Amino acid sequence: MRLGVIADIHGNASALRAVLAKLKDLGCDRIVDLGDCLSGPLDADETADILLEHNFLTVRGNHDRQLIDQHPEAMGPSDLAARSLLHDKHLDWLHTLPFHAQFDDVYLCHATPRKDSQYLLETVIPISGEVRLASQGEMRARLGPLPDGVTLVLHGHTHIPRLVSIDGRLLVNPGSVGLPAYDATSTATHFMETASPHARFAVLDRVQGQWRAEFHAIEYDWDKAAALATSRKRDDWAHALATGFALRHA
Ligand SMILES: [Fe+2]
Repeated sequence: MRLGVIADIHGNASALRAVLAKLKDLGCDRIVDLGDCLSGPLDADETADILLEHNFLTVRGNHDRQLIDQHPEAMGPSDLAARSLLHDKHLDWLHTLPFHAQFDDVYLCHATPRKDSQYLLETVIPISGEVRLASQGEMRARLGPLPDGVTLVLHGHTHIPRLVSIDGRLLVNPGSVGLPAYDATSTATHFMETASPHARFAVLDRVQGQWRAEFHAIEYDWDKAAALATSRKRDDWAHALATGFALRHA
């Protein structure tokens, strides 16, 4: 089986189109989507139309949840920008997304098996906001007990591509299709950055009973995506899309 894994599209329809074309070239049998599909100031409606058409197995991200749980007045600017573009059919689709999913020995969640907004493989240090690789103990605690037989855990949320091998399992974060950097304020103000503007995804092959992961970073017209963000008065997004670094204010 050749499995394409996408996550954190964040309404970036041009990045998604480029990734789907590449996945087709790579001959994936199946594609799964790890959530945070639409939130952001780009093309939430167009992205939702593409995803509805393909009907990939998709788990719900924290921003997918917020788009249907929060009143618009309570939303952050990225969720609100997406919400204003979405139609009922898109919201109905978000309502159908499960928190997690499983097939064969593959488990899918957006962030961790317990929470849709917890980092699995990274730890933010309080006050300084430095981000380090989580310890093995932290990873085990955040994973918790998994269903018997799971050998591959697919997750997103941090937008940072990673492959971890622990306790006989592979943990794979494919990185973000549509938003290569962001800043956040949980625990402490911190920056998550892939340091290039490429659209990221992963391909998993099962070879003689073992999963093998390939990470991809492909080009698409990120300057056009950044210009769209600028036109919507989101300089933070424009900078992240064009560079892969978060915009830092002095
Ligand atoms: Fe995300």
